[in-house]
Amino acid sequence: MQNEDNQNEPHATADSIRAVFDQEVARFQEPVTRTDAVLLPAEAERQLQELNDLRNRYLGKKSELAAELKKIGKVDPKSRREFAMKVQKHQEEIKLWIEKEEALRRELISRARTLRESIDVTIPGRRPRPGHLHPITLMRQRIEDIFVSLGYIVEDDREIETDFYNFDALNIPEGHPARDPQDTFYTTEGFALRSQTSTVQIHAMQRRGAPVRMIAPGRVFRRDTPDATHNPMFFQVEGLCVDRGITMAHLKGTLAEFAHRLFGPETRTRFRPSYFPFTEPSAEVDYSCFNCNGKGCRICKQSGWIELGGSGMVHPNVLRAADVDPEEFTGFAFGLGIDRTCARIYELDDIRLLFENDIRFLEQFR
Ligand code: FA5
Repeated sequence: MQNEDNQNEPHATADSIRAVFDQEVARFQEPVTRTDAVLLPAEAERQLQELNDLRNRYLGKKSELAAELKKIGKVDPKSRREFAMKVQKHQEEIKLWIEKEEALRRELISRARTLRESIDVTIPGRRPRPGHLHPITLMRQRIEDIFVSLGYIVEDDREIETDFYNFDALNIPEGHPARDPQDTFYTTEGFALRSQTSTVQIHAMQRRGAPVRMIAPGRVFRRDTPDATHNPMFFQVEGLCVDRGITMAHLKGTLAEFAHRLFGPETRTRFRPSYFPFTEPSAEVDYSCFNCNGKGCRICKQSGWIELGGSGMVHPNVLRAADVDPEEFTGFAFGLGIDRTCARIYELDDIRLLFENDIRFLEQFR
């Protein structure tokens, strides 16, 4: 920085130090580094640091200008005053220049901070979008409320089962044709994803013995090809009532009451003979269409009736599998499809809508 030729000419040395300074700081004066449109606060912070370094280098005790001033004794006495004034003038100008540039940057940083922290009250607010229950959950809760008010407890049980609970204990031994329509998915360890909530009949009786009155809503799985009324995963609600002297009349009365409360007091029920290995006798339960009250319409496909699910008197073999004495106890059971009931009530053409997670569809159940 110091020019050897100027060693003996202090005036010239001070001027050349100043010239080097001016050269070095030229970049700070580029408009691009001074306008807040371009200069980012982080960059301004960095430049403040650089300006402080400049101050130390050009104005500090060990700076070249300070060293120059110390040489005053060697300067010709006639020009001493002039020499000192020149050095001090450079020092003063450099000091002012640095202060001015620092102030500029500090202001920029402070403006950016104010901008960041200020709230624009004119910006429209963001509407909160609170979540809500899924239609299947809403349906399940309505069903639970009805049965709880009839004195049933709600059981929540496992979805992964052994063959014993999914089939054998339900009187469906290996090789029985009733296993086919309930073919399900298996884990690599050979456990079954339950194909019906009837598995909970066995667990509940084993856990609680008899008498017992319970419902068990839950997820079930079948190797069914998806279409408007089928999904490979869907929801059922199981019902079981075991006590002394339970008859088919109790079953019919219970499901008739359930249908009244869910679909309206004018609803009628009918029982069609059917077959399930775990009930004897067995019946499919239908209810009169809530839309046309049995006259026939689009919803009930002009039949006037809609299927609710399967039901029957618990087979003695099932009671035995759960250590309940069929000589002492009898019971009824039923299994209803929640998804299809949900689809009927909300007039959905296709139960697959329930699992597409389309927000436009789901928001209608808010
Ligand atoms: C059963 O699953 C019996 N466990 C019901 C039962 C329980 C009978 C207790 C007797 C005593 P089923 O296979 O019919 O029955 O199914 C019952 C209901 O599940 C059907 O009425 C239907 O609403 C629903 N369902 C069956 N398969 C599907 C499917 N792939 N997708 C959606 N819902 C289905």
